[in-house]
Amino acid sequence: MYLLCTIGASLICFLLLKWMKRRRLCMDIKRLDGKTVLITGGNSGVGKETAVALAMRGARVIIGCRDPERAEKAVQEIKMRSHNLNVLHMHLDLSNLRSIRDFCHKFLEKEQRLDILVNNAGMPSVLDWTDDSFSMCFGVNHLGHFLLTNLLLGLLKESTPSRVITLTCSVYKFQKLDFQDLNYNLFPFFTYCRSKLANIYFTQELARMMEGKGVTAYSVHPGYVQSNWTCHYSILFRMLMQVVMFMFFVPCEVGAQTVIHCAVADEVTQHSGGYFSDCRHIALQSISKDPGVAKKLWEASERLVGLA
Ligand SMILES: NC(=O)c1ccc[n+]([C@@H]2O[C@H](COP(=O)([O-])OP(=O)(O)OC[C@H]3O[C@@H](n4cnc5c(N)ncnc54)[C@H](OP(=O)(O)O)[C@@H]3O)[C@@H](O)[C@H]2O)c1
Repeated sequence: MYLLCTIGASLICFLLLKWMKRRRLCMDIKRLDGKTVLITGGNSGVGKETAVALAMRGARVIIGCRDPERAEKAVQEIKMRSHNLNVLHMHLDLSNLRSIRDFCHKFLEKEQRLDILVNNAGMPSVLDWTDDSFSMCFGVNHLGHFLLTNLLLGLLKESTPSRVITLTCSVYKFQKLDFQDLNYNLFPFFTYCRSKLANIYFTQELARMMEGKGVTAYSVHPGYVQSNWTCHYSILFRMLMQVVMFMFFVPCEVGAQTVIHCAVADEVTQHSGGYFSDCRHIALQSISKDPGVAKKLWEASERLVGLA
């Protein structure tokens, strides 16, 4: 009797977990031959799976990565899994404005077009500073991508219809932006939430500025994903998270589905500036819908990265 109850309870838990982890897949089979895709942080997690999927559709895929060894290893894997040899890496450290400028300079020199920019790279909740003294989360997740996108915007406009997809996270709703202290670096989780809220406002303002110009923008929450983000934490936390991730998080291929959907599906273009998750357009919480805040953040970011 005891054994039967244990088996029954285990089965119910298993089915419940499977139900909780169910996700939509991108069903659009559009090819991307002749298109160029840039993915930041494409050597790991969601970025790498997005790279494989878009390379499979025939795109030229460039991954912008900070570690040449990890990047080269990922390029070999992406080529092998996608059967596409048109995959390469370029050095990009989003925690350093000089590196971003150098990257864009080389990219604009070498590449004729940019059809899809995936602002994927991200730092989880950590308290650290970038080389330019920005808080690590805000600096890499928002400011780095803000500068990168702005420097590549000319090429995106020349390659229309083009798309900018920026990875955010559903935790954006737990914090507000504080314009007195955009570099807030006190509680790690809150710094992450703020940077992800900034990603959403950045997408909205970019979409507004590009309206009618053929460049559309989307922010994507990939779901909670069994990626490599725990590598920034202690071994104990990593071990604990392995169990949690196994039970509740989805594999990276599944996490990449909404990014792929926003990269290829025609129907998303009617929601430029919108927030997507589980291959669907999702309404944002009111905390992230103020156009005044979006504009103010854009102007503040321009000043911080030296574009103003
Ligand atoms: N995993 C989740 O549950 C989850 C949930 C919501 C949102 N997201 C978002 O999804 C995106 C992808 O994350 P992931 O889960 O795939 O994590 P991941 O496996 O840790 O991948 C993050 C990528 O960003 C790169 N990166 C970090 N700092 C960088 C820098 N300064 N310059 C250039 N590249 C840098 C990493 O490069 P290295 O390999 O060199 O470190 C890595 O390639 C992130 O924006 C994250 O915030 C993830």
